Amino acid sequence: MSTVVLIGAQWGDEGKGKVTDFLAEKADLVVRYQGGNNAGHTVVVGDREFKLHLIPSGILYPGKICIIGSGVVIDPEVLIKELESLQRRGINTENLRISQRAHVIFPYHRLLDQVEEGRKGENKIGTTCRGIGPAYMDKSARVGIRMVDLVDREVFAGLLERNMEGKNHLLTKVYDSDALDLNSVLGAYASYAETLKKYLADVSIIINDATKQGKNVLFEGAQGTLLDLDHGTYPYVTSSHPTAGAACLGAGIGPTRIDRVIGVAKAYTTRVGEGPFPTELNDDVGTFIQNRGGEFGTTTGRPRRCGWFDGVVGRYAVRINGLDYLAITKLDVLSGLEKVKICTSYRYRGELMEEFPASLRVLKECVPVYEELPGWQEDVSGARSLEDLPSAARKYLERIEEISGAPIALVGVGSRRSQTILTASLYA
Ligand code: GDP
Ligand code: IMO
Ligand code: MG
Repeated sequence: MSTVVLIGAQWGDEGKGKVTDFLAEKADLVVRYQGGNNAGHTVVVGDREFKLHLIPSGILYPGKICIIGSGVVIDPEVLIKELESLQRRGINTENLRISQRAHVIFPYHRLLDQVEEGRKGENKIGTTCRGIGPAYMDKSARVGIRMVDLVDREVFAGLLERNMEGKNHLLTKVYDSDALDLNSVLGAYASYAETLKKYLADVSIIINDATKQGKNVLFEGAQGTLLDLDHGTYPYVTSSHPTAGAACLGAGIGPTRIDRVIGVAKAYTTRVGEGPFPTELNDDVGTFIQNRGGEFGTTTGRPRRCGWFDGVVGRYAVRINGLDYLAITKLDVLSGLEKVKICTSYRYRGELMEEFPASLRVLKECVPVYEELPGWQEDVSGARSLEDLPSAARKYLERIEEISGAPIALVGVGSRRSQTILTASLYA
């Protein structure tokens, strides 16, 4: 048995889709366990680029079982469009299985996400406005509607009517917004239910059986550790748990089933949306990284804020997720810089701080302490082993390992599958 959980070790967009696709070759099952279509995972296969939001990146290989677990919130309209788009491009989607227990995103969730961001004004979180937060709020408030309820004609209309009465009250009376029409939502969602019901399953059984049969199961995290509801830069976080512990909950397996945890991090740092980001670069180097790295959001197209690799964040991600390994992506983007820097600790009011602080007020005041290393000018996108890299790039990777406290198992030097250096065996 080999069960590998792959998570984002920074603020999302670390290249989880690419690494999942690379590791999916040897996987039997690929599982998404949290988040929703706030995620945007780009996978490049040959000359073709795929942007996946809800469907696990393993779908691009024929024969892999791809699972959307109970911890995911599903916008059925988006899921159907994603399925149709893959099918049009010749990808077989018959092996998709969706948890009956996953919660459903409705138009009122999207609308509430937008109006709440508007109400917050300058204090907005910078959400993707996909209705993710409001859908998880309903789940916690025990009024959510699950996939199993959506496809059940005996209960769905009643649940929707109850919810929409409350949400329309909130939209019109509190947010001064328009009400939504019950019948049009009912009609649209009844049709989504017809399309999606064949994919529904008790996915916990499928995943547990696979682990018992010694199959390789790969969990594809969405977002990143610093966007985690408990462990991220709260309140500038998402409403789910992108950290490794959530793989068990969101899939329906026990912690005893997990063999390996891998954290994906860029060779630098990016963040999209609001919130503190200590190593952010608002200078030419930041612009250089943004342009060379194509740092514009997969889901919303927003420019991503860019900065140096943050070793404090690295250590934090290693601890919170119990990382066995790091996968470092986009090393190729840093070619051409005279010097590269790694943040080793923060300075807060004159004191050195080694650990990531809980207080946002403190974090905002933290000044990164940098270690400066020589850069490299060579194009590394053709490297296929560590020996192919310039010694300065190898040294840079070694320092990331030492400062973060986990060995590197994989290095990305380009967006294609082949542009990957594997330095450790990831399936047991
Ligand atoms: P995810 O959300 O973690 O899956 O990451 P995104 O797909 O949102 O963003 C990562 C971007 O970097 C995508 O456009 C990938 O194609 C690209 N990418 C991934 N790994 C590498 C790499 O090693 N080098 C380069 N140049 N691009 C990469
Ligand atoms: P992937 O899986 C980067 C960010 C948003 C915002 C905050 C809350 O592609 O790495 P939400 O819509 O979730 O309520 O927004 O989280 N965010 C992401 N940033 N990558 C993502 O996903 C993200 N998903 C959400 O920008 O700051
Ligand atoms: Mg992304």
